Amino acid sequence: MFEPYESLPKKVQAVQFTEDNKDRVFNSLTGQYAAGNENGKPILKVTTIHGEVAVVRLGDWIVKDAEIGAYYPVKDEVFRDGYANDGGKRVSEANPLDRYVKKPVLDVCCGTRMMWFDKKHPAVIYGDIRSETITVKDTSHRPDGTRTLRIEPDTLMDFRDIPYPDESFKLIAFDPPHLERAGPKSWMKAKYGKLSDSWRDDIRQGFSECFRVLEDGGTLVFKWNETQVKVKEVLELTPTRPLFGQVSGRSGMTHWLVFMKGA
Ligand SMILES: C[S@@+](CC[C@H](N)C(=O)[O-])C[C@H]1O[C@@H](n2cnc3c(N)ncnc32)[C@H](O)[C@@H]1O
Repeated sequence: MFEPYESLPKKVQAVQFTEDNKDRVFNSLTGQYAAGNENGKPILKVTTIHGEVAVVRLGDWIVKDAEIGAYYPVKDEVFRDGYANDGGKRVSEANPLDRYVKKPVLDVCCGTRMMWFDKKHPAVIYGDIRSETITVKDTSHRPDGTRTLRIEPDTLMDFRDIPYPDESFKLIAFDPPHLERAGPKSWMKAKYGKLSDSWRDDIRQGFSECFRVLEDGGTLVFKWNETQVKVKEVLELTPTRPLFGQVSGRSGMTHWLVFMKGA
């Protein structure tokens, strides 16, 4: 009769009550809590919907339930178990629902999603380190000589520290920035991003993270344009060898390389 169901968690806002922020937290609670002290330490008190008085002590969390407009206290250990799934690391930059809505494909730096045939494919989590709309000069696009680029990832993420557990995906797309030099206001920089001075470490860490979150036997598709940096140099940043690849683009500079984890 009874069947197992998994309930989706709600997305909540939360703050930890600390010595440093105690006054700001109290002031933001719009009269729902009373301030006090216990053994010389600041506390907050609230009467719960069950009529009990709950005490918030330093280190406890206050969670805002946007649906009912209430703030409820949560003990630190309960918060870490139930809300901050990776042991207290703040997850708000990633979409917490993504942890539960299992999708088999991850793009770790989707940019404007130009390479995707379906830019909202339901099997894909589109991630990027930035979420922004930029208007740049581009005389080929609109009569006013501008072009608007929208980078709107589902989840803000850093490919050097991917916010998912090991072996979560079957397929990963990794198309990182490939330019060492680009004008600060250029269309190329806005669209593709630019390599930092530490780009070798960044890409090495990116490969390592992609292989970590890829299932055994899963596929990594890596794209690299070698106008400024040769693909050979980039392949030195991962011990895994691609199985095959293809060169494309007008000047034959764009490499598509296919790796399989464990092969
Ligand atoms: C070459 S573009 C990706 C283009 C994309 N494949 C497309 O089809 O439009 C590289 C993207 O990597 C993003 N990026 C740069 N560093 C990153 C990082 N550490 N983690 C995640 N994304 C990053 C940039 O913001 C940029 O959007």
